[in-house]
Amino acid sequence: MIIAIDGPAASGKGTIAKQIASVYGLHHLDTGLIYRAVAKALLDAGRSPENAEAALAAAIALDPAKFGEPALKTQKVTEAASVVAAIPEVRQALMNYQRAFATKSPGAVLDGRDIGTVIAPGADVKLFVVATPQVRAARRVLELRARGEDADENAVLADLLRRDERDSRRSAAPLKAAPDAHLLDTTHLSIDAAFRAAVDIIEAARTGRKRR
Ligand code: CDP
Repeated sequence: MIIAIDGPAASGKGTIAKQIASVYGLHHLDTGLIYRAVAKALLDAGRSPENAEAALAAAIALDPAKFGEPALKTQKVTEAASVVAAIPEVRQALMNYQRAFATKSPGAVLDGRDIGTVIAPGADVKLFVVATPQVRAARRVLELRARGEDADENAVLADLLRRDERDSRRSAAPLKAAPDAHLLDTTHLSIDAAFRAAVDIIEAARTGRKRR
C-alpha cells in the first residue's frame, strides 16, 4: 500500500504521516528532508541555493543517512529548501530515490508537496492536508521554540506565506492537490483528531465504503 500525503507548510501532514506509517506498519519518508538536505549542503559549501549547477551536484550526492540532522530544521535551511525545490533538474534527480522508496515492501507513506501528483500518482490513498495560515504559523512557532530557536509569530507567518506562494507557483511539480486526493482540514483538529480523520479516510478508501 502506498499512501501519499501532501499539503502546505506546517499543515500537520508530517505528524499524520508518521503516525499512519507506525499504525499500518509502513515505511515513512518525509520528502521535505530531501530538499532540506540539498539546501544545507549548498549553504555549508557557501553556495547560493539558486545555483542550479551546484544544487544538482548536491542532489546527486544526497546522503539519506544525514536526514536525521537537527540542523535541517533551521529557518535558514527551510527557506533555502524551497528555493532549491523549484529547480526542475534537482527535482528530476531526486525522483528515483523517492519512487524506489514508495515501492518498498510492505508499503510506504510519503509526505511532501508532489507525492500524489508526480512521485506516486498511482498511490492507493491520497490526502491533501490543509489548515489556515494563522493556525499553521502558531504550530510552527511552538515547534521552533521547542527546539530553542527564536520565533516571532508574524515573521513565521510571513515565511510560511512566502514559501507557500513559491511552492505553488513554480512550474516544476507545484504544490497542488491531485484530483483524486481527499482534503483534510486540520484547522480545528487536535493531533489525535487529525490522525483519526486520516484513518477514517484511508479505511473508507481501502474498503470502498463512504466516509462517516
Ligand atoms: O515542514 P514544512 O512543511 O515546513 O516543510 P518541508 O515539508 O520539510 O518542505 C520544505 C520545502 O521543501 C518546501 O517548502 C518545498 O519547497 C520543498 N518540498 C518540495 O518541493 N517537495 C516535496 N515533496 C517536499 C518538500
